Amino acid sequence: MARREASFICQNCGAAYGRWQGRCDACGEWNTIAEESSATARPQMPGRAPRKGRLFALEPLVGAAHDAPRFATGLAEFDRVTGGGFVRGSVLLLGGDPGIGKSTLLIQVAAALARGRHRSVYISGEEAVAQVRLRAERLGLSSASVELAAETAIEDVVATLGDGETPRLVIIDSIQTMWTDLVESAPGTVTQVRASAQALIRFAKRSGAAVILVGHVTKDGQIAGPRVVEHMVDAVLSFEGEGSHQFRILRAVKNRFGPTDEIGVFEMTGGGLREVANPSELFLSERDLGAPGTAVFAGIEGSRPLLVEIQALVAPTSLGTPRRAVVGWDPNRLSMVLAVLEAHCGVRLSGHDVYLNVAGGLRIQEPAADLAAAAALVSSLADAPLPADAVYFGEISLSGAVRPVAQTAARLKEAQKLGFARAVAPEGSGEQAPALKCVGSLATLVAEIAANGRRRMENGRRNSAGG
Ligand code: TYD
Ligand code: MG
Repeated sequence: MARREASFICQNCGAAYGRWQGRCDACGEWNTIAEESSATARPQMPGRAPRKGRLFALEPLVGAAHDAPRFATGLAEFDRVTGGGFVRGSVLLLGGDPGIGKSTLLIQVAAALARGRHRSVYISGEEAVAQVRLRAERLGLSSASVELAAETAIEDVVATLGDGETPRLVIIDSIQTMWTDLVESAPGTVTQVRASAQALIRFAKRSGAAVILVGHVTKDGQIAGPRVVEHMVDAVLSFEGEGSHQFRILRAVKNRFGPTDEIGVFEMTGGGLREVANPSELFLSERDLGAPGTAVFAGIEGSRPLLVEIQALVAPTSLGTPRRAVVGWDPNRLSMVLAVLEAHCGVRLSGHDVYLNVAGGLRIQEPAADLAAAAALVSSLADAPLPADAVYFGEISLSGAVRPVAQTAARLKEAQKLGFARAVAPEGSGEQAPALKCVGSLATLVAEIAANGRRRMENGRRNSAGG
């Protein structure tokens, strides 16, 4: 008996089922499973021999390596994130909240390429040509030779792009507004988005043009609906920032041709996005000197050192379960630091609400921020301002020890460059800085901060004697 082909496909994650169901077991989404006319499940004609496979040439891995030819845009912060520029025939997905500046960034990228005499095309499905022009005018780019169109039909777009000289860069703003004749569902649905993306990816691979797809983002930070598009493209970039801050951070979430830990920093100004070559200065520009509960963290983002302020507020709670709120850092790491403070340093926080914030809307992923977070927390609890000219970094282990982290020299150099005279760092960080203070355990640091405190910590100092 012939095996029954699964033909119910989750439109969100692509999982296949033999029958319809309301909720996808794989991704947990509701109402995303739809029957697909399965072209793959072609029935075999009885009495006819199966088609013989065509032979194709296999190529050796060595020798034929023409390395991925890239072209840079000239926007250094953008090129840094893509890994040195666009790879020919690659497709990028750029996600971000509405109004964060995706269209602004991309028209600037298109103009930068056009300035380098590369043909770049901007297809907008959301705005009229006049609106795109108006924005370009505001950015002072109206003389750039970017070619514009307001189109949403994918077949027309692909036909137009394939006509004449192949563009170097094609921008599709946004993929959710595009639709193809091949499928029947409405624009913006998962099936449409996937089919449109497929057509554009085929075009990119065939022609060698780099294609950027703009994707909308849902509230929880996912690129709306089609997670599948993320798997289809070569790179996924996300453009982030807080509405109230002017900083914007471009981050690679996935990159087949480059690193994923680099960030590009921009500042949204009246004249568009400005590249920020020295982000530390920007992130520290609004420091509240002398206030308790703030510590400067000397971090590394990708290949670049970055100083950023970590702010903590510890206040007695009026709730049964105290609040723990974190912005810009991993809540699990906060829980861990709080547990270590309690277990090894005698700092009791179970009766306190704890808030932790990374200034400037930056999101930190490094464990090296542990020490700075702990210093900020204790500083707030003890009402003891930390020295304004000190930076902190180091990973805290569950035993309360401060562990060394990578790239110490780069962190210290950046701190020195920005006028910080002191660094509090793990033991064995070397003699790079004259005023480097090495701490072996968190308890030493806590005792020292508390000694300068204006408020006595209710800690009983059971275990905090050691160092
Ligand atoms: P936009 O690029 O349209 O966002 P997206 O495409 O991600 O939805 O940017 C919209 C915001 O950017 C808008 O709130 C105004 C701001 N902006 C500036 O501050 N300066 C500028 O020069 C431009 C063009 C936009
Ligand atoms: Mg837009």
